[in-house]
Amino acid sequence: MNLVVALDLPSAAENLRLAESLAGFDNLWMKVGFRTYIRDGRDFIDTLKTLNPHFKIFLDLKLYDIPNTMADAAEEIARLGVEMFNIHASAGERAMRTVMERLEPFGRERPLVLAVTALTSFSEEEFRRIYEKGIDEKAEQFARMSYEAGLDGVVCSAFESRAIKEATSQEFLTLSPGIRPFGEAAGDQQRVADLELAAKEGVDFPVVGRPIYRDEDPAAKVERILSMIRPSTF
Ligand code: C5P
Repeated sequence: MNLVVALDLPSAAENLRLAESLAGFDNLWMKVGFRTYIRDGRDFIDTLKTLNPHFKIFLDLKLYDIPNTMADAAEEIARLGVEMFNIHASAGERAMRTVMERLEPFGRERPLVLAVTALTSFSEEEFRRIYEKGIDEKAEQFARMSYEAGLDGVVCSAFESRAIKEATSQEFLTLSPGIRPFGEAAGDQQRVADLELAAKEGVDFPVVGRPIYRDEDPAAKVERILSMIRPSTF
């Protein structure tokens, strides 16, 4: 497993302070989302890399557009030098294939590409109104489609990780938010899993936000998490 720290604080200064306190660790992934990227842009990515060249960056922008536009964006993301980003599986198999083809020239340097299957904010009813199928069934179908299109993995809840790997491959990566490493407060998350459960379900990337940045000693919390997991290399 590889720990992904969500940099979800409200300002660049606060996110950088958090990252700085974690700069002594190797094998740490940093999740940079919409808000931070829109506000702080590529300078923020560059600053993170300066703080610790070993930080790996997951750019969580969830691309969704026509295939060529997605591929253009994917190419620019690869040029940023980040190690992972995501796209919506519902953009379709052709869009996903087009993205992967466009990244071919980057070879082994290309970022990992994950698909978003079903946004976890959906209620079953809201989801059915859009996709005309239940969340579990559709998420698995999207995961299979992403696997066939050559993506590296999917974003899913820890509780879906095992079924997705069984439907695709054990090597197909799963990244799961909603992790409460040691049973911390769930906050607004509906279904949370602790580290032990995430490991049992085969989650490759547990994403942890509040349990780290709201801790009075984020570095100590990260150290405790890292002592429980064995990092994998990509
Ligand atoms: O603070 P917490 O650990 O709940 O943060 C989880 C992170 O994962 C947040 O950045 C949140 O936006 C993100 N996320 C999520 N559920 C999803 C997709 C992303 O919680 N389905």
